[in-house]
Amino acid sequence: MFRTIAFIGSGLIGSALARLSVEAGLDVIVSNSRGPDSLRGLVTELGRHACAATSTEAAVTGDLVVVTIPFGAHRVLPVDILAGRIVVDTMNYYPERDERVPELDAGEVTSSELLQRCLVDAHVVKAVNNVDHIRVTTAARPPGAPDRSALPIAGDDPDAKAVVAEYLSAIGYDAVDIGALVDSWRSEPGTPIYLDAYLPRAPHGMDEDRARRWFRTAPNVPVSATRVRELVADAVRAGARRGTFTGLPPGFVATIEGTEFTVL
Ligand SMILES: NC(=O)c1ccc[n+]([C@@H]2O[C@H](COP(=O)([O-])OP(=O)(O)OC[C@H]3O[C@@H](n4cnc5c(N)ncnc54)[C@H](OP(=O)(O)O)[C@@H]3O)[C@@H](O)[C@H]2O)c1
Repeated sequence: MFRTIAFIGSGLIGSALARLSVEAGLDVIVSNSRGPDSLRGLVTELGRHACAATSTEAAVTGDLVVVTIPFGAHRVLPVDILAGRIVVDTMNYYPERDERVPELDAGEVTSSELLQRCLVDAHVVKAVNNVDHIRVTTAARPPGAPDRSALPIAGDDPDAKAVVAEYLSAIGYDAVDIGALVDSWRSEPGTPIYLDAYLPRAPHGMDEDRARRWFRTAPNVPVSATRVRELVADAVRAGARRGTFTGLPPGFVATIEGTEFTVL
């Protein structure tokens, strides 16, 4: 049903998913805002099943299109080309990084609903937004492994969700359908299933170097489908930590307008 996975955005999470996709025997097309030449190193690392293209070319060619850019950039996506396509949305809204959106700040809408409004004829499925770019690799396991983790997915089109669940299975995860895009706030930043669920408890009082090392090397905590359902059910909308970098795990390095910021 899908053979080629196109990535619009090939940064931390996009490149990690591209690696998992190649390991799963799929072809990948990576793209970013700076153009294919800037992705030569990544393509070399990924091997012969990978190539780089412009975002528009990637969108045309991919059987599945993974949109994995800062949420604030989503309005530049090629709307016409993505019409009718399955779009995997890994994006999260961080007001410190993205343009402030009052509807999102008020919890009146989800970021994936706004993406769907923009890509009006695409089939948007929110997925892989709630696990960090390191654990997404280290937690991946083949089907049936006792410590295989699950990830929540949300979308308005059941067929598109089934395809994305199949993709997740191929790259190492079970999928738990948590509902429509309107329900996807349950996996947004600040909710119980967001990042921390897949990480051990962090030590207190780490300095920047130790926090970065801890985040790089912390083992994953397996999160079963049952546990995903429990944590998603426990979610409270617009919790205190929603959408701020300070709610991220210690050692996470966020970039705001080119400046790195380590969460402590
Ligand atoms: N990092 C994580 O652990 C993680 C986990 C889950 C979800 N997410 C979410 O996933 C999204 C990507 O996160 P990330 O950490 O991978 O970000 P990142 O490392 O900053 O990478 C962003 C990527 O998007 C590209 N990009 C930016 N604007 C673009 C545009 N207009 N057209 C095409 N490509 C564009 C960048 O290309 P250039 O470098 O050429 O500008 C880069 O390849 C974010 O919404 C984030 O909240 C992140």
